Amino acid sequence: MSEKVLLHYQDTSEDLTDILGYVDDGGYRAARKALTTMIPEEVTATVKESNLRGRGGAGFPAGLKWSFIPKGTDKPVYLLCNADESEPGTFKDRQIIENDPHQLLEGMIIAAYAIGCKHAYIYIRGEFGRGYKVLEHAIAQAYEKGLLGKEIFGTMAEINIHVHRGAGAYICGEETGLIESIEGKRGHPRNKPPFPAVYGVFGCPTIVNNVETLACVKHVIEKGADWFKSIGPESGPGPKLYGISGHVQRPGVYELPMGTSLREIIEVHAGGVTAGRKLKGVIPGGSSVPVLRADEIDVAMDFDSVAKAGSMLGSAAIIVMDDSTDMVKALRTIAHFYHHESCGQCTPCREGTGWLEKILIRLDEGKGTPEDLATLDSVAKGMLGNTVCVMADAAAMPVRSFLEKFPEDFRDAVNRAGKTASPVAA
Ligand SMILES: Cc1cc2nc3c(=O)[nH]c(=O)nc-3n(C[C@H](O)[C@H](O)[C@H](O)COP(=O)(O)O)c2cc1C
Repeated sequence: MSEKVLLHYQDTSEDLTDILGYVDDGGYRAARKALTTMIPEEVTATVKESNLRGRGGAGFPAGLKWSFIPKGTDKPVYLLCNADESEPGTFKDRQIIENDPHQLLEGMIIAAYAIGCKHAYIYIRGEFGRGYKVLEHAIAQAYEKGLLGKEIFGTMAEINIHVHRGAGAYICGEETGLIESIEGKRGHPRNKPPFPAVYGVFGCPTIVNNVETLACVKHVIEKGADWFKSIGPESGPGPKLYGISGHVQRPGVYELPMGTSLREIIEVHAGGVTAGRKLKGVIPGGSSVPVLRADEIDVAMDFDSVAKAGSMLGSAAIIVMDDSTDMVKALRTIAHFYHHESCGQCTPCREGTGWLEKILIRLDEGKGTPEDLATLDSVAKGMLGNTVCVMADAAAMPVRSFLEKFPEDFRDAVNRAGKTASPVAA
């Protein structure tokens, strides 16, 4: 795929943050097509047909999610764009927001039309000051041109978009934490069911979609479901943004077909591992997913293939670690993040994340014991699937996988403790 779609701003001389540049470049054609030539159910059916799966982490089919909005509901329906981008290693959505905001707005107009929403929100991470300004400017321009507000394209459609700034909390990226936060409450996730499509923000039917998912919607409508399905695996196709960071020559965000191999992304697009170093491990989808060893990178980066390989595509945030990496230290850093970010609502997460971090600090500082390794694993195991949201799983999965994939680093940490503890057998 040579032509960039989501990162088209890199290929054009137009300033896509300006509505005139965006329209000159063919912008808002897809929204016009949807609102003036398709009924809402047709839009949803086309998105369903495209097999577009959510880019926020879970990979849930977008069109199917939209179809869960109760038919004929007398309550207002809301669309929430998740621009929290809170998963460590992830920096893809901000490329769209800062460089091509109308692409997102156009996707949102189409999605809002499909689900019957008059008021849509973009929940943006508080720290994204630039993105916030770019969005506010783009939205103001869209109102001026009559692309937001009442009677869009001369139809009966009314769609408004509001930007809501978060305060920078990982948990507010979780869809029900995000909903609570928009309602002005602490970002404590809700039990599901009921799912947001039935009982979401302000108790009304709500769809939460990621920035990249909504940007894809514009292209599905413009170019058709078959075009979308022709890119990558049929079970979850389309253009995909892969963010790659860590020990590589050219870190960045790369737009490639869904299902590009992890090896190709690291070795070809990101220019390979740091000069003179060898690959040790890779986190393929943001810090919450299980780590892979260097000999496990011949995997297609799509939802099903990465799951088959024992990890998750998640937010496709690839974190590369070369052979200078001490996996105990790396895991300690990750554990610190989850401990800091736990909302504290559920005991296994509130207590477990702190316990994990405490043990990892001990191991890293050369004060660990062989028992610590077993305790780490058992605490992590006890956190899986036992909380309101999957944040506890997000904290536990890396721990279990680092222990399993790099046992020698953890044994070394115990053995170098240089104290009375008996060495751990290899
Ligand atoms: C702890 C946690 C943090 C999350 N953070 C984000 C985030 O920052 N951005 C995002 O789009 N999805 C995030 N998600 C996933 C959302 O809950 C939700 O699945 C997603 O926004 C749905 O959009 P999609 O179907 O388009 O992927 C997070 C999930 C969890 C459990």
